[in-house]
Amino acid sequence: MNTVHQVPDLSRLSSRIPAAPSIGSTTVTKPDHIHLSFGFAADSLFPLEALEQSAQQAIRQDGARALQYSGAPGPAYILDWIQSRAASYGIDAETAQILVTNGATQGIALAAQLLLEPGDEVWVEAPTFFSALQAFRLCGASIRAFPIDGEGVQVDKLEEALIAAVHEGRPVPKLFYTMPVYHNPGGVTLSLSRRRQLADLARRYNFYIVEDDAYAELNFTGETFISLYELAPERTIYLNTFSKIIAPGIRLGWMIAHPLLVSRLRILMLGSSTAVFTQEIVAHLLKQLDFEQHRAQLIRHYWRQRDIMVTAIRSELGDEVSFELPEGGFFLWLTFPDQVNTAEMQYIAERHGVSYVAGSHFYHDDSGHNHLRLCFSYCTADRLTEGISRLAAAYREYREEHLHQGVDSYSQH
Ligand SMILES: Cc1ncc(COP(=O)(O)O)c(C=O)c1O
Repeated sequence: MNTVHQVPDLSRLSSRIPAAPSIGSTTVTKPDHIHLSFGFAADSLFPLEALEQSAQQAIRQDGARALQYSGAPGPAYILDWIQSRAASYGIDAETAQILVTNGATQGIALAAQLLLEPGDEVWVEAPTFFSALQAFRLCGASIRAFPIDGEGVQVDKLEEALIAAVHEGRPVPKLFYTMPVYHNPGGVTLSLSRRRQLADLARRYNFYIVEDDAYAELNFTGETFISLYELAPERTIYLNTFSKIIAPGIRLGWMIAHPLLVSRLRILMLGSSTAVFTQEIVAHLLKQLDFEQHRAQLIRHYWRQRDIMVTAIRSELGDEVSFELPEGGFFLWLTFPDQVNTAEMQYIAERHGVSYVAGSHFYHDDSGHNHLRLCFSYCTADRLTEGISRLAAAYREYREEHLHQGVDSYSQH
């Protein structure tokens, strides 16, 4: 008998597990469908040959060790690589401060488990990365969000809220989660003055900053930034990932934090270390890959993709949408007129053969109805252009049907 027909008692599950969000069009499988929703890396840039050789080397040279349980923190070469990479953008860390994780997503979850008791306050940016919202909800956190603008999160508003909380005897956050560089989905970067202000607030109000730096290596203009970790190392848990620079499927990322925090994070990993075999493969890869050349190739590609998408948006949607021009990363965050509900429009867009992520997924309170996230990294150039043309057609149809206004009258607003 198929045991799937014996329904489990879902009332016994943890009440903290949120309903599964349906993000983008993961269920649409029509071959012609254009997934501008997927925040994926470009498949064509995966270093396949080098990975193949590295996998062979990991088996032939290190087979027994690579496939055994390991109490070690990971191959020394990976830790050294992360350490010197971090140093190149100003982070001074010992290898004992580095924890290799199952992607940056696990880093967020571990940071949340490390810091949070049910009911604790977590403050985030609005919008923010939806998986981070999930991680904080799973820990029973009470979430509050602060708006971003072209210079990143509005730290003044955060400061006002901290002052008010202290004044009124309400709790201040345990943790502030931020993506200071090429924000997902906002595309914006936190200005230096706001970074300094945030680091200062973390010290004064005794909270931790979880700094998610997933896109920092994909800086189109070559600009580098002083990290929050550098400004407040004892207050910051820093996260990064190989997903955007090698391939997401290898599922490797890293955390950098004070050794006292790292030793406790290891306890949260329950004595298990992150996929030893995958780490060995990546260690071999990093030995043979000319990383700077590889990164330059990624940057050229994503930069061109961004320009193609931006050109298409300007020509197809013109003044109907606004956005900040991201100088790195994967995403464009579109703002439509206030009356637009992008979750409603999604059904029309899917009929037109294109998908995006509706803005509300990036807000803890389901607001953000007139925004949507587009990803320029994954689709090929011609699909990007075609995708935007389908999106514009969907928007015109939505506007006619839902806003009961003609094109000309509407564009006067
Ligand atoms: C800001 C941010 N953090 C973390 C991740 C996840 O990274 P990983 O694949 O390493 O889990 C993503 C990927 O979408 C992201 O956008």
